[in-house]
Amino acid sequence: MHSFKQNDSVMITKIENLKKEIEALKASNAEEVEALRIKYLSKKGEVTSLLAEFRNVPAEQKREVGKLINELKEFATEKINTLKEEVLSNVKEDDTIDLTRSAYVLKRGTRHPLSIVKNEICDIFGKLGFSIAEGPEVEDDWHVFSSLNFAEDHPARDMQDTFFITRNPDVLLRTHTSSVQTRVMEKAQPPIRIICPGRVYRNEAISARAHCFFHQVEALYVDKNVTFADLKQALLFFAKEMFGPETKIRLRPSYFPFTEPSAEMDISCNLCGGKGCSFCKGTGWVEILGCGMVDPNVLEACGIDSKEYTGYALGMGVERITNLKYQVKDLRMFSENDKRFLEEFESAL
Ligand code: DAH
Repeated sequence: MHSFKQNDSVMITKIENLKKEIEALKASNAEEVEALRIKYLSKKGEVTSLLAEFRNVPAEQKREVGKLINELKEFATEKINTLKEEVLSNVKEDDTIDLTRSAYVLKRGTRHPLSIVKNEICDIFGKLGFSIAEGPEVEDDWHVFSSLNFAEDHPARDMQDTFFITRNPDVLLRTHTSSVQTRVMEKAQPPIRIICPGRVYRNEAISARAHCFFHQVEALYVDKNVTFADLKQALLFFAKEMFGPETKIRLRPSYFPFTEPSAEMDISCNLCGGKGCSFCKGTGWVEILGCGMVDPNVLEACGIDSKEYTGYALGMGVERITNLKYQVKDLRMFSENDKRFLEEFESAL
């Protein structure tokens, strides 16, 4: 009997001491909290093992002691949960957010070299009063060929290996941005002064020097009394603005169905200054565009009176101009999206 009583008071003291001990518990991280949980609340933990000793408690005390043990268990569980919450919120405030840390450096993207050069071309013509016009890449025969004075069986149609994208031969990818000339002239009467940048497609094997798509900029000026002298002046202005004030131009007679007379323009080689190098194949000149006076047939096809109005047109490849400015050796670089290549144009923005 005596031993039971002693056992009982020992139990109550044990419970009280454990409660004090648990109340004072501290932890600074999740591992420590887990260690405490194991120490007190796991199967062999100090609180749980009180239940084993509970067997020895005299029957008349069981109610009271049982209640104390349950309360202690609840108390310990709550304490451990509170400690857990504390360390978790501490982690957030103290360890993962360092308000004194400097910000991540976000690298700014770069503009694609072709966009840089296209914008530059458009800006130069913008200074001469040209405004931007755009047209669709999926075109029809009329806008790409027929309206531009290509005869039905004209070999020039073969010159530009066309992609036909359905069985219908009237649905095709434009082979040049000259199609935008027609689109604009059909809708507007002169004066017309437009610059048309865009992507064009030709069925060519892809290599360092050719691609199945590339970019062109077309210019068109139609008004009363527009002459070849106006064209030449605009070309000289463009060449000097684009390649520097020392740049010279020369025009060689050429042929395009949509212009008469037609010419190709060379500029003095901006790599060797005209002395002759491997880039200009020793000639001192490099070809950069085609141009001419708009053929009266084209004006008429688009509903413009060719007796009243004349015009000039020109077209150039953006890749070609970009190569000249930046010496990009392989055309494929422009469409591979290799960041090392693109980042070289960071300073050119
Ligand atoms: N469309 C021609 C081509 O793709 C370029 C061109 C030449 C455009 C002469 C013109 C021009 O407007 O007058 O090769």
